[in-house]
Amino acid sequence: MIRVEELNKSYSNGFIKRVTYKALDNVSFTIHSGETLGLVGESGCGKSTLARTMLGLIPPTSGKIFFKNQEALSCKGELKKEFYGKMQIIFQHPENVLNPRMKIYKSLMEPMAIRKHNLNEKEFKSEIKNILQEVGLLEEHLSRYPNELSGGQIQRVVLARILSLKPEFIIADEPTSMLDVSVQAQVIRILKKIQLNYGISLLFISHDLELVSWMSDRIAVMYQGQIIEIAPADEFYKNPLHPYSCLLVETFTSLQHSFPAGGLLRENDNINKLCRCSYAPFCPKYGAECEKAPVMRKKSKDHYVACWKV
Ligand SMILES: Nc1ncnc2c1ncn2[C@@H]1O[C@H](COP(=O)(O)OP(=O)(O)OP(=O)(O)O)[C@@H](O)[C@H]1O
Ligand SMILES: [Mg+2]
Repeated sequence: MIRVEELNKSYSNGFIKRVTYKALDNVSFTIHSGETLGLVGESGCGKSTLARTMLGLIPPTSGKIFFKNQEALSCKGELKKEFYGKMQIIFQHPENVLNPRMKIYKSLMEPMAIRKHNLNEKEFKSEIKNILQEVGLLEEHLSRYPNELSGGQIQRVVLARILSLKPEFIIADEPTSMLDVSVQAQVIRILKKIQLNYGISLLFISHDLELVSWMSDRIAVMYQGQIIEIAPADEFYKNPLHPYSCLLVETFTSLQHSFPAGGLLRENDNINKLCRCSYAPFCPKYGAECEKAPVMRKKSKDHYVACWKV
């Protein structure tokens, strides 16, 4: 369904001196039809950059993205519109997506009107009614402004908007990290239900490994712009291979369900700083071979890892 090939993204900025920062480093993976791929990694590792690049919101430095075997980034005109209409994203801050001066029904009708010019008002209303039911909103919410809804309700409106566009692929970029824990579970359940009902492929991004493993068929771990391990969710939890993944699973199973504020890592000063593996300075398994850039290798069925020591 979705295939990402050797995607690279460098940001270049600076006031006094121009600095280039590699936010995505040769990222490749696939997401099958109807599948959920969970993406975990600590803050700043490049998760949102990957999401935005995949949806064409920012251009990559190099690399390719295939959607149903067709290259997406080089598409132009109507084809591009059609393409990106089938891929949608749910952001961390849903309140920025809705126009604060538009009542909810207008925010819902707007994308539908663009996609389906030929629906009359009655058909519009009936479709909106179905979608409201799907995301658990009430008719009375339609005549409110976004500031008259709770965070969880706003995220449901965003889901309803996306659903009205009949997407085939959704990226959820930490969709509930701004919500209260009790509301988080409701929104996540709705997202899962919609995904299963409509057979949508999903890239689910989160800091929370437990949440990701509940949502996902497979899990990908990102570290400093690189995917370092991909495995089926249950296999990953039982048998993480990369030393960073082992630390992640250990941290999450020891009752902490999020990354600790000071980060997970303690640097080992004795390690050659020119090492091509970016995890080497923190790695307990460090050895001479880690000076070569790690390559993703298959370890068992559907389990891939980028580490020479595994
Ligand atoms: N427009 C930009 N210009 C320069 N650097 C950027 C830009 N956007 C992001 N970055 C940098 O790229 C890196 C990856 O950022 P990104 O937002 O993708 O991380 P993330 O994994 O989504 O983090 P979080 O979990 O906190 O959302 C960070 O170091 C960030 O500072
Ligand atoms: Mg992010």
